[in-house]
Amino acid sequence: MNLDGNRQDLVVGVIGAGTMGRGIAQVAATGGMSVLLMDSREGAAAGAKDFIEKMLTRSAEKGNITQDEAKSAVDRVEVVNELGAFAPCHVVTEAIVENLAAKRELLAELETIVGDDCILATNTSSLSVTTIAAETNRPERLAGMHFFNPVPLMKLVEIIDGEVTAPWVGEALTAVGKRMGRVPVRVKDAPGFLVNQVGRGFNIEAAHLASEGIAGFADVDRIMREAAGFRMGPFELMDLTALDVTHPATEYIYEQFYHEPRFRPATLMRSRMEGGKLGRKTEQGFYPYKDKKAVVPPESPAPADRPESVWVCPAEPTGYAALTALLESLDAPLDTGDRPGDKTLCLVTPLGDDATTAALDNELDPARTVAVDTLFGLDKRRTCMTTPVADPAFRDAAHGLLASDGVPVTIIGDSPGFVAQRILAMIVNIGCSIAQLRTAVPDDIDKAVKLGLGYPHGPFGFGDLLGPDRILKIIAAIHRQYGDPRYRPSLWLSRRARLGVPLTTPDAR
Ligand code: NAI
Repeated sequence: MNLDGNRQDLVVGVIGAGTMGRGIAQVAATGGMSVLLMDSREGAAAGAKDFIEKMLTRSAEKGNITQDEAKSAVDRVEVVNELGAFAPCHVVTEAIVENLAAKRELLAELETIVGDDCILATNTSSLSVTTIAAETNRPERLAGMHFFNPVPLMKLVEIIDGEVTAPWVGEALTAVGKRMGRVPVRVKDAPGFLVNQVGRGFNIEAAHLASEGIAGFADVDRIMREAAGFRMGPFELMDLTALDVTHPATEYIYEQFYHEPRFRPATLMRSRMEGGKLGRKTEQGFYPYKDKKAVVPPESPAPADRPESVWVCPAEPTGYAALTALLESLDAPLDTGDRPGDKTLCLVTPLGDDATTAALDNELDPARTVAVDTLFGLDKRRTCMTTPVADPAFRDAAHGLLASDGVPVTIIGDSPGFVAQRILAMIVNIGCSIAQLRTAVPDDIDKAVKLGLGYPHGPFGFGDLLGPDRILKIIAAIHRQYGDPRYRPSLWLSRRARLGVPLTTPDAR
């Protein structure tokens, strides 16, 4: 009989009462289910129950739940000391150590105890659900239930269908996940599942561009936070999660994807990890730390320089319009000729091209050309880049002018797609490749990325907001300049951009 995930008397077993297990037990109990909790380390499960009680008491003090609700949820958690106690469970989730042999050994024993229709779920973060299931007697009743840390605060749960998982199992776990107060999304088993694939786009692309000396860590973080609207920059985030967690997971995804170039790590990540620059926990990561706080290098003040005259290249109409409007509001000495005068500062607004390509393609003097990123507007932080032969006087004049209304300006080295364009295009492209590989559908990808990673939009939301044609233009230009298949546009993206339809458009079949 297939399990009804909504049955009232549902009993959930949780094995492993560490960081994740105790959180899963807590949300199962607050969701009204009976919970059996076990850990092989003596006292760990009882300690986890005490922790849950503390958390729920605090929650009641804050008025999030009533005292009665807190008490009855704690009462629903029963600590057990042997696997035999799991016999009455309808669902058992394992959250033990991330080790295939250990998980397989546990599941083999568990199968001799639980009923035939009991669902087995794994909270693995990186192992293949299909591989874990393969040696069980009934692999069709095993699925991934991937929670995020800290479980009670993170609403997302990825429900992962292995190659042979029966559809009813994912459906039942979706219902169970909802009862736990989570937002479940269905994902097909794939390296990194869904959220961890998209997260690579953000981190790895930032590490690649920093490796090339295009911008410092703090500058990349400022641009991604202030211009692109992310809560945290990629380097702050990697310092928080620690490189010895992030980098091995990145390498694992890259290996499992048969060296898919989109997931290729930057060597900078490995060398910093091996050098012990792990992040906050070692007080030295992409930032140094003092009293647990990152020491952020200050920005250099904007120069007082101004250009004699300034000309904006009309090659990119949207960027041209935005930048011209800004310059008019700054009372800039605009050169409105068809071509710039001999001493005029030339501003270009490329999508995906570097300053060198934009200058040469438009037959401008590369010494006087400064590129301005207009993709995210020009209100919060402006990014400028120059060619390798830039005249510092023109760069400083552009910097001084563009910062003259108090909006900060970051000057970076020449880069196809600046900083924000290329990181964003990578996120959208990876999101599209997830949809193209049928790992998940666009709505679920966006929901998962917003809840699991806290991005202001998911890849499809970003793509449709900024314009699929512009994202395609950016990634295709970066691809052309690097000649690296890492930047090849996903067919999901290029088809929809060329057809002029939203990226969320499903295939018509
Ligand atoms: P943890 O180390 O905090 O807890 C694991 C617990 O399992 C320990 O208390 C340990 O004593 C117990 N254990 C180990 N072998 C056992 C066995 N055979 N039987 C019963 N108990 C056993 O680890 P954490 O962080 O809670 O991770 C657990 C699982 O969740 C791993 O598979 C991990 O990859 C996954 N995960 C972790 C996330 C995180 O942010 N920590 C996020 C998502 C998934």
